[in-house]
Amino acid sequence: MLMLGLLVLARGSATVSASAGSTSDTPYVHAGRGGLGTTAHIPPIDLSTTYPIPDLEAASKSMASLGSGGHPIGNSIYQRMHNPNVDRFEQAIAALELLPEAVAFSSGMAAITAILLAARSADGSKRHVIGIRPLYGGTDSLLTSGLLDVEVTWATPETVGEHVRADTVLVVCESPVNPTCVLVDIAAVCKQAGSVPVLVDSTFSTPVLCQPARCGAAMVIHSCTKAIGGHGDVLGGVVACDEQWAKKIRRVRALTGSNLHPFAAYQLHRGLQTLPIRIRAQQAAAAELARRLSEHPAVESVSYATEAGSNLVGPGKQMAGGGTVLAFTMTGGYDAARRVMCEVKLVTPAVSLGTTDTLIQHPAGVTHRSLNDEAKTAGGIGPGMLRLSVGLEDVEELWADLERAMRMR
Ligand SMILES: Cc1ncc(COP(=O)(O)O)c(C=O)c1O
Repeated sequence: MLMLGLLVLARGSATVSASAGSTSDTPYVHAGRGGLGTTAHIPPIDLSTTYPIPDLEAASKSMASLGSGGHPIGNSIYQRMHNPNVDRFEQAIAALELLPEAVAFSSGMAAITAILLAARSADGSKRHVIGIRPLYGGTDSLLTSGLLDVEVTWATPETVGEHVRADTVLVVCESPVNPTCVLVDIAAVCKQAGSVPVLVDSTFSTPVLCQPARCGAAMVIHSCTKAIGGHGDVLGGVVACDEQWAKKIRRVRALTGSNLHPFAAYQLHRGLQTLPIRIRAQQAAAAELARRLSEHPAVESVSYATEAGSNLVGPGKQMAGGGTVLAFTMTGGYDAARRVMCEVKLVTPAVSLGTTDTLIQHPAGVTHRSLNDEAKTAGGIGPGMLRLSVGLEDVEELWADLERAMRMR
């Protein structure tokens, strides 16, 4: 059960704590950075793939702990088992998500894969997963593919309770949803799920805007490739969860080798320091662009959650603000959306999101292309829809670029 009090960083190496619902930026700067003494100000990057073994008995004990998904007892043994930079980043994420532990991966998809493998019972008798659509196209494809031998039932946020069975091991949702930017009521989903753990992909929110554990989520994942890295130059994923889940998920990581590289961990840990100021600045520009787009005659509709329009947004609510990503649909349908993507000059037509520069993409044609037409229609992913991830550029210059692109015939 989540403790909504002070959560002190794991394993005593750092002293900064994050409090539930805290709006302090301090943990973003300091979490996971303790224990350096006078050796360094910035955590050194440890690229070692192996560690010398001075004491065989001690190393055997450490290996036994690591092999079963635990932490090292002294010796790190081997990079696939443990790395100090990865460990520091994980400690920071756990503190920021108000959960006891975190496990980092080479990508967001690697994190989701490990969770699904860990959730399935070893004998395969329990392998039912409820997916709340829409989800990121890659997650949807993974669940649909049959690769991981899980049985998936697709649900809406309102129908989760109807699909829970004795062999259900996990409920998977996103909030805000990729690509429609619709918010899912996490507390309501958790209530319906009952004792079944709920995994929330919080990539669009980051802990700055939403800490799903406060709403009852058992696990929170991020594609760190997005806002946490923030600069479009590092791929990574992370899951925050309790000790039992962390042990199971770390064991899968140790066995399958989907580790985050130490340099990537260093970059992601560094990215956390500026995350709150980036998110607030990008969110302010996104809110302004959403407002202007909603008044533009070439735009049929805009999807961007606001305090006025959603009871899930606002101080103390599920989400502190609408976020940095919005979706909008052109009245001219596919051709108009395609033109905007081709005509923007300052904005980059590209997938991904959360970078310091603004990106635009066409979900139906690219990120969510693999969904069948029925799933696209049900999820509201139409041919005229564009998804805009707003960066740190001057909002007037972004608007001028978008407006000119929308005018082009
Ligand atoms: C919401 C969401 N979850 C997961 C992923 C997968 O992350 P990665 O590309 O780091 O594997 C993405 C990628 O776009 C995403 O948008």
